[in-house]
Amino acid sequence: MTTFSLVALPIVVLLFVVRYHKEIRNWISTTTKDYGFFKKYGGSHSPSDVKGMAPYPAQPIKGRERYRVMMDIRKLDVQNWLTLDKNYMEEHSVRDDLLREKRDKVLQCLPESAQACQEALEEVSEFLCERYPNMFQKLVQGDRTSIQNCMTGERFDIGGSGSGGEGIDALEAAVRLTMEDLSILMMNEDGEYYLAASASLFPTGWTVEERIGWTISRLHEPVPLWHQHVANSVSKFLARLTPTSPMERSNYFVEIKRPDENLIEILYRPKGLCEKDLSVPSPEEIIIRRERQTFRRLPKTGTILFGVKTYLTRLDQLPMNELENLATEMRSWPDYVGEYKGKSVWGAKVLEFYKSRVGQMNEKVEV
Ligand code: HEM
Repeated sequence: MTTFSLVALPIVVLLFVVRYHKEIRNWISTTTKDYGFFKKYGGSHSPSDVKGMAPYPAQPIKGRERYRVMMDIRKLDVQNWLTLDKNYMEEHSVRDDLLREKRDKVLQCLPESAQACQEALEEVSEFLCERYPNMFQKLVQGDRTSIQNCMTGERFDIGGSGSGGEGIDALEAAVRLTMEDLSILMMNEDGEYYLAASASLFPTGWTVEERIGWTISRLHEPVPLWHQHVANSVSKFLARLTPTSPMERSNYFVEIKRPDENLIEILYRPKGLCEKDLSVPSPEEIIIRRERQTFRRLPKTGTILFGVKTYLTRLDQLPMNELENLATEMRSWPDYVGEYKGKSVWGAKVLEFYKSRVGQMNEKVEV
């Protein structure tokens, strides 16, 4: 190849691409559409892949030196609105048990939320079928549409005539598909958002049976400083949320488990996270329980769909920088905040464990 063609060829290709970029883009999208490459959310996992999927990374503990209740909201990572991971099948079996055995405690829908629950199921199904097309499939038979969960074999009607999907059934189907707990927030006559429907299977010290219909403000009454620090900002944030501006935030709690506790007892904690008053829990019995919360305004009903995914990390598996940040934040809590968070049960043990890890690291450096 001559020097001239080496220089000229890329220029010709570049001019061609610039001149025909629209046609090229159309051609690519039509030839690849069938393979799902350009789907809105993408993804080509097979049903068995779920066993190897790492959880969506949880927000690290920041190590704030001054205590404040924080809104800490950020733009939703829309491609990962709902996530799947290797814990899917195990947690699905816990969800199935709870929905059978404690249905009223974990699932409630007020009558006015029926359409919103239906819309939530449609949105969840649409997302999962696009994001994980080999794990969830949409089936259309006549005027009925359903979703098939290829991992569990379950199938739910999404809509169309004869669909039993309104209200509580729709919300139940939605939380059987996801790893997230899902709630519908609606505005009352006083302009306040309240819990109109909820499937909260992994609660932290409450049940939807007792709190359905409560306003967001009342739900947070037990939380120290919530009203002083964030109540107004939360109301404004919820009122301003639009279908095109979904948001997310994260929370963490410290939970104590007994050595013989099973997953259902660890995840379903209606009475609180530290009520099992183990005087001296071991580091393996202390769990950092994180929540990834998502907020989406549903376009048709205008209600808010609130999602909560729970992640568990044992204290002895927490990276050193986060352990250090946890110790920093614990020191910043006023006594009454520490009391709300159960620090009297686990605080001394966490600090002791942190100091022993620091000691081990110093020994390594000296060697
Ligand atoms: C931006 C919105 C929100 C913020 C900033 C927020 C903040 C918080 C905080 C800081 C806590 C205490 C966590 C701890 O340190 O232990 C909490 C607890 C809680 N939140 Fe929220 N939250 C929000 C939205 C919601 C929504 C939409 C619900 C609806 C289900 C909800 C339900 C609860 C409940 C039930 C508790 C436990 C209260 C208790 O101890 O009884 N939150 N929230």
